[in-house]
Amino acid sequence: MRMYDIILKKREGKELTTGEIKYFVNGYSNESIEDYQASALLMAIYFQGLSDRETADLTMAICDSGERADLSAIPGIKVDKHSTGGVGDKTTLVLVPLVASAGVPVAKMSGRGLGHTGGTVDKLESIPGFKVSLEPAQFIDQVRNIGAAVVAQTGHLAPADKKLYALRDVTATVDSIPLIASSVMSKKIASGADAIVLDVKVGSGAFMRDQQSALKLARAMVDIGSRVGRRTVAVITDMDQPLGFSIGNALEVKEAIDTLKGQGPGDLLDLCLELGATMLLLAGKAENLKDGRTKLHELIKSGQALNKFIEFVSTQGGDPRVAREDGVLPAAKLTAAVPAPASGYIRGINAEVIGRSAMLLGAGRENKESKIDLSVGIVLNKKVGDTINSGETLAVAHANGTERLEQAKELVQSAYQIGDVKPEPQRLILGTVPGNI
Ligand code: URA
Repeated sequence: MRMYDIILKKREGKELTTGEIKYFVNGYSNESIEDYQASALLMAIYFQGLSDRETADLTMAICDSGERADLSAIPGIKVDKHSTGGVGDKTTLVLVPLVASAGVPVAKMSGRGLGHTGGTVDKLESIPGFKVSLEPAQFIDQVRNIGAAVVAQTGHLAPADKKLYALRDVTATVDSIPLIASSVMSKKIASGADAIVLDVKVGSGAFMRDQQSALKLARAMVDIGSRVGRRTVAVITDMDQPLGFSIGNALEVKEAIDTLKGQGPGDLLDLCLELGATMLLLAGKAENLKDGRTKLHELIKSGQALNKFIEFVSTQGGDPRVAREDGVLPAAKLTAAVPAPASGYIRGINAEVIGRSAMLLGAGRENKESKIDLSVGIVLNKKVGDTINSGETLAVAHANGTERLEQAKELVQSAYQIGDVKPEPQRLILGTVPGNI
């Protein structure tokens, strides 16, 4: 087999065999195939696409490039959840204890934030003492004992994805639906869960900017899951404004705790109930979505979900007082209000711009090596559909210095679109793509 022939075949729009796809992924992983040939193939895939069968083959070849987590020692159906990334998305912090308190074991491997989107592992690290690395045996034991654990994803899972992603990043081939689908699903399959719930974000803060692309990505990922025997459901959700009010690591942990207490923002609660009910359904712990939502609501009302959060945090070395007392999470030294430049209705909030503003204050990474400040961020005071008077506070910036504060405030102001006409109400849940197994 020759890489040249594989590139030519895809350039001409022909379907690659399973063997050819494996040859490429294995060769690129063991460095017998060079970057220039891999780049040419990625670009051919970008333009010619991949069939569903080719996408599933690529996924499995990437998945098989490393270890697979073995969760078989944990009884019950293990359900994972993955978000394609958004601004203010702290759903994992709520869902892990919430779903675990309903009797569904959650063994979660999460990532760090990059660019304008945040990552669960960074958020958890803002809880003093919380350990995001556990030995594999400790991770399994914790899920067996208390039903929940969250660790940082190691480089041993799907290592080919790391290499391919870095190459895609510098060859303008990231935003290809089969390449994104295989990248995400290879890691999910390697993480070992029996069933997967995907939250596919669409809008100004997401990878997918329009509903049609989000639907295509959702279908591609659900198809892969079904082909490799993992029950997979995708929920397409709005990311045309940040989720909840808080953006920034410790600020988001606080909002997740408020949600577990039944005092969180409505959109965050609705999304957690939808995704959580889908997880319960896949685990056989709910008759239907309505039943799942009702059960989860009860667990919040009774305090069981919050108690599970406290148990989960303290088992992983975190300070459990975080759930009940102020002053435990790191707090920024200063806060600055961002005033509205005009009166009217909030017609839109560009989520990406808000994410960039939080990043400017230090909440996010510009590259993988950047150090982040866990205490800083933005807290929105107004969301889409609200009214505002000129000079009133749109949002509050939490910062540890004045250096980039003005620039961050200007960005927040520019993210808000204010107008005279009341906007149509936005739907949060835009659709669901159910799997066929
Ligand atoms: N997230 C991933 O893990 N991979 C992609 O290709 C895009 C987003």
